Amino acid sequence: MNSLLGRRIIMAHLPTPVHFLPRLSGELGISLFVKRDDLTESVASGNKLRKMEYLLFDARERGADTLVTCGGVQSNHCRAVAWVAARAGLRSVLLLRGEAPRTLEGNLLVDRLLGAEVRFHSAQEFQDIDAVQAAVCDRLRSEGRHPCWIPMGGSNAVGALGYVRMVQELSDADLQFDHIYCAMGSGGTYAGLWIGVRHFQRAERLHAIAVCDDAAYFTAELARIRREFRSRFGWTVDLSGAEAGMDDGHVGIGYALNTGEELRRMIQYARTEGLVLDPVYTLKAFLGMTDHIQRGVIQPGERVLFVHTGGHYGLFPKHGELAGALDGGAASGG
Ligand SMILES: Cc1ncc(COP(=O)(O)O)c(C=O)c1O
Repeated sequence: MNSLLGRRIIMAHLPTPVHFLPRLSGELGISLFVKRDDLTESVASGNKLRKMEYLLFDARERGADTLVTCGGVQSNHCRAVAWVAARAGLRSVLLLRGEAPRTLEGNLLVDRLLGAEVRFHSAQEFQDIDAVQAAVCDRLRSEGRHPCWIPMGGSNAVGALGYVRMVQELSDADLQFDHIYCAMGSGGTYAGLWIGVRHFQRAERLHAIAVCDDAAYFTAELARIRREFRSRFGWTVDLSGAEAGMDDGHVGIGYALNTGEELRRMIQYARTEGLVLDPVYTLKAFLGMTDHIQRGVIQPGERVLFVHTGGHYGLFPKHGELAGALDGGAASGG
């Protein structure tokens, strides 16, 4: 495993810091720390850059000159791919789910700024994204380019190595916790953390709070990543028991949708501790964690590490709802 962890192209500012949050710790009755993976880079901030270090190494080995990936219109992953491509002198093609929005903002604005070729596909077309990407890659090859397909969220065995490496940072810094929490959107971050905790023989309990889909979907995704580790690297990784750490009870009113109460709590965390979460991923994960405190999954006084996986550009398309919550007026949103 250690040799696999070296197969990366350095792009992120690592190790990211771990901050203790004294006031929220007091309020919640635990010792709360945050792993600042929102600080991996400025424009490419967040968890996706850790995965992309490994995925770029892999793409380079395959002789790629164009990175092709997919995601939602406000995908943080697509933004990271667009940045990595620009930084490495490659081109990027982003297949985005949905219609072109009238306003160019948030992640999409940054994608365009970085020169990504952006193509919009209907939800129906997206159901067979493999066929869409195959056609796009064929077209690129016919133009003399060398595309490399990167799956949604960068969540495959190669990308997951980024979060195995994050666990190594904790061991190198001699930091120990009782629990580690992260948001789960495509499963690669959690898979990497799980493999890392086993590999570095650590004792933390891992928890992944789903922001979309359900536990059955993520169980299948983890099984896929596990198979890929075997076929790609000849490694048998132990993901048994990982399902127990997944909680799909905090998706709320839907992916990327927030109630006014959720946004008010996001504002409260920002004001109490300067902990600015993003509304789509880290806010829901954080609310899941506070629910676990109430339900006794986390015992009073335990040491908890919350992985801040970034996503701040997702704040900007929410400016209307946030303005309502800031004024104390929003009851619920969508
Ligand atoms: C900000 C942010 N946090 C967390 C996640 C979840 O990570 P993963 O897709 O590896 O489950 C994502 C992406 O889906 C994200 O953009």
